[in-house]
Formats: sequence, structure tokens, C-alpha cells
Amino acid sequence: MFPDTTVVILAAGQGTRMKSRLAKVLHHAGGKPLVRHAIGAALAIAPSERVFVVIGHQGEEVRKEAEAAGVGTIVQSEQLGTGHALLCGEDQLAKLGGRLVITTGDCPLILPQTLEQLVEAQRAGAAGVLLTTDVADPTGYGRIVRDIRDGDITAVVEHKAATPEQLAIREINAGFYCFDATTFWKYIHDIRPDNPAREYYLTDMIAILLAKGERVSALKHADSTELLGINNRVELAAADQILRARKVRQLMLDGVTIERPETVTIDGDVRIGMDSLIGPFAQITGHTVIGENCRVGAGAVIHDSQLGDEVEVFPYSVISASTLDSKAHAGPFARIRMGAHVEEGAHVGNFVELKKTRMGAGAKSMHLAYLGDASIGAKTNIGAGTITCNYDGSHKHPTQIGHGVFVGSNSTLVAPVEIADGAYIAAGSVITENVPPNTLALGRARQVNKEGWKKKSAKKP
Ligand code: UD1
Ligand code: CA
Repeated sequence: MFPDTTVVILAAGQGTRMKSRLAKVLHHAGGKPLVRHAIGAALAIAPSERVFVVIGHQGEEVRKEAEAAGVGTIVQSEQLGTGHALLCGEDQLAKLGGRLVITTGDCPLILPQTLEQLVEAQRAGAAGVLLTTDVADPTGYGRIVRDIRDGDITAVVEHKAATPEQLAIREINAGFYCFDATTFWKYIHDIRPDNPAREYYLTDMIAILLAKGERVSALKHADSTELLGINNRVELAAADQILRARKVRQLMLDGVTIERPETVTIDGDVRIGMDSLIGPFAQITGHTVIGENCRVGAGAVIHDSQLGDEVEVFPYSVISASTLDSKAHAGPFARIRMGAHVEEGAHVGNFVELKKTRMGAGAKSMHLAYLGDASIGAKTNIGAGTITCNYDGSHKHPTQIGHGVFVGSNSTLVAPVEIADGAYIAAGSVITENVPPNTLALGRARQVNKEGWKKKSAKKP
């Protein structure tokens, strides 16, 4: 963390090659928008009041991301180039002093320690430092031109303006810079749009500073993958895969077993406790928190949910915005959603759906049920095929079931209805009225047996 450092994240461009109505920096990799990764990296090296996102295309949407992260914005309503983006922030930034780091919103893989190295290199006595790397295919990038005698950087030449010899250079400008702020703002107006694109190139600053006799250096980074910039959806998928791989690697190093780690999808903000096991093709996303010693089976999908310790989620269950307390079981093929709460040791079995429903401690619903807007007491057993009829076509109604209740198979509970503690619902009942404690409720037609009926009917002509 450098308290005297300002970070400007360039994010005003549209990203034409994404072929999308959505601005490039709002596309997701690793479970969150690209710009949020850039903000995260910036906040690792600078205080939030000194971090700014340059907004333009879909500026209001990008502004929301900035505000949610507690950082500022600079408006660039017309995108006249990366140098122009900085000019738009002159009033806000020139007074800040210290150092000025410039990054881009479309490089989600950059690590904080790399930005730290960039700042350290500038602090060592340069007016400006930029991050470079060697790539196999430098097409489209600015090339790093170095002095043949001492190897020092002399300029950054944009692809479009490069000579055939310069096009052969494989060392490229990655788009990350650190400047001495005072020197930067002193010379910003020397950037002129004197190129075929009529753009203000931030990269011209390198040659400008050198011409003024200032020291500029190029910091070459060995890992070019970390500096991958996203221009199209192929690169977006590549970045996503790297972010996923980093996340599962960290989880494994922290004591989580992940079977077939290349197949799982786990978002960056997910937390999983020690000795938990994640099966192949599981998807664990959003702000999910999973405790210790849990098992998440193959293909389970868990979003924005909390799991205590020793929870078992069997394969192919889908859980969202819900809570499972310690030792709860779910699935296989369970669906638990919208604020459902499965309390300690409760079991929700195959083809059981819980919506906004509380399953009390030790309660069980093992097969084929829909339990919506219901509160189910501790140790209650819900038979196969039980349905809470919570919707009358216009409104939702609650079902209250006490503790120690036995709901027989294929019961239909027409809400609003209350079933008190210890009640017993006969199988196949349609329950439309409240059931008092410890009472047997039969809500079905009595069976009629007609003796000898088969023989008589067979005799009919
Ligand atoms: C830029 C560099 C190039 C470098 C490459 C690395 C310049 C002139 N060139 O080229 O040397 O190799 O990045 O990826 O800087 N943006 C704005 N406002 C603008 C223009 C761009 O905010 O007016 C933002 C974009 O949203 C993007 C970033 O700046 O996040 C880079 O812009 P882009 O157009 O992608 O620059 P490149 O041509 O890739
Ligand atoms: Ca780019």
C-alpha cells in the first residue's frame, strides 16, 4: 500500500471487438465484471479516495461499479484516446501530487505485487516506468523501441504507426504505467493528436519525458499471461479459465479437496473451510460461504448461500440465496431457494423443492415434495409427494407446521393453514383446516370395499 499513490483505471472505451451491447469492462470473468478486478488490484496499492475509474461508454453502469467499491470516477464523454482520458481528469488529479499509476479496465489478471513492483521501480528515481512483456504475437500492441547501444527505452510506437522493423519487435506495452505525478501533469499538454487516428496517445508521454531529459524506464514482466488484455470473447474465456484455476489452486492450498479441479467453477469471493470436498463440475458462485468438512457432490450449483460445517450436498442439487446449518443434508436433485433455511441435521432429499421455507432441526423431507412459504418444526417428517398449496392464483399464503408432526405421503396442505405440534396427517389427505396438537387429521374420502364386485360385473352380458 502506497498512501501517496493515485490510480487511474482507463475504462471509457466500448470494446468494439466484443461485438456486444454491453461495454467491455462490464463483461464477466471469474464471476465478476472486468472493471471490478481492475478496481481490486488498484485498492491493493492505493487508498480508495485516490482510485478513479475513467468512464464513458455505459458510463452510468460503470459508475455503479466504482461507487459500490468506494472509488471515484472521471467522465470522458468522447473517447479521443488514452492521453485524452487523463486530460479529462486533470482538474481532479493534478492537485494530488505523489505518484500516478495508470492501469486499464480490461486486464483482469494483473496481480497486486506486479503493480507494487511498478511503483517501486518508479520510486527508485524515474519520472516514469511502464510495464512491458514479450509476446508471441504482438499484433495490435504498442511496441517498445530500445536504444541499440544501452538497451534503454526510447519510445512506444503504436502498431498502426510502426515501421516494418518496429512491427517485428515482440516486446510490447502492457498498458500499465507509474509516473511522478508533478512531472506528468507538467507535460500532459505536450501530447498532441498528430497521428493518423487523430487520438491523444498516452504512450507519447514516454518520448516527451525523454526529450525533456527525464528518466524513463521499461520494467519487463516475465509472465505475459498475467498482462493479458481482453479484446474479444475468446480472450474473455481464457482470462476466466485462468481466474478459476487460480481460485481452486488457492482453495486446495488452504485445505479444500477438489476433485477434477479443471471442471469446477468457483467465484473469487467464495469461501470454503478446511477438509471440505468439492466434486467434479460443481458451481459455487456469488458470496457463498461453506464451512469445514462439507461435501458438495458432482454438478451441484450453489449461489449466494451459507453452509455450516459437515453439510452434505449430494449431486445435482441447486441451492440459491439460502442457508444450510451444520450437518444438514440436501439432494441428490434438491432445489433450495429464496431464503430457505435448513436447520441443523435436517434432511432434504431427492426432488424436494424448498422455497422461502424453514426446515427445523432434524426435520426430514426425503422425496418428491414442494414446500413453499412454510415453517416446519424440529423433527417433523414430511412424506413423499407432500405439496404446500401456497398460491391461490393471486396471492401467496403461509403454511405453519409444528414440531414432531408426521405428514403422510401425498398430502395436500392448502395454505393458509396451521398444523400444530405432534399432529398426524393421514396419507393422501387434503388439509384445508387447521389441525390441533397431537390430533390425527384425515382429509380424504373413506374407502369403500364392494365384496364380490368383480365376479358380478364379469357375469353381466
Ligand atoms: C493501448 C496502448 C498500447 C498498448 C495497449 C495494451 C495507447 C495509445 N496504446 O492500446 O501501446 O500496447 O493499450 O493493451 O495507449 N480508453 C479510454 N478512453 C479512450 C481510449 C481508451 O478510457 O479514449 C481505455 C479503454 O477503455 C481501454 C484502455 O483505455 O480500457 C486501452 O484502450 P485501447 O483502445 O484498448 O488501447 P489499445 O489500442 O489497446
Ligand atoms: Ca486494448
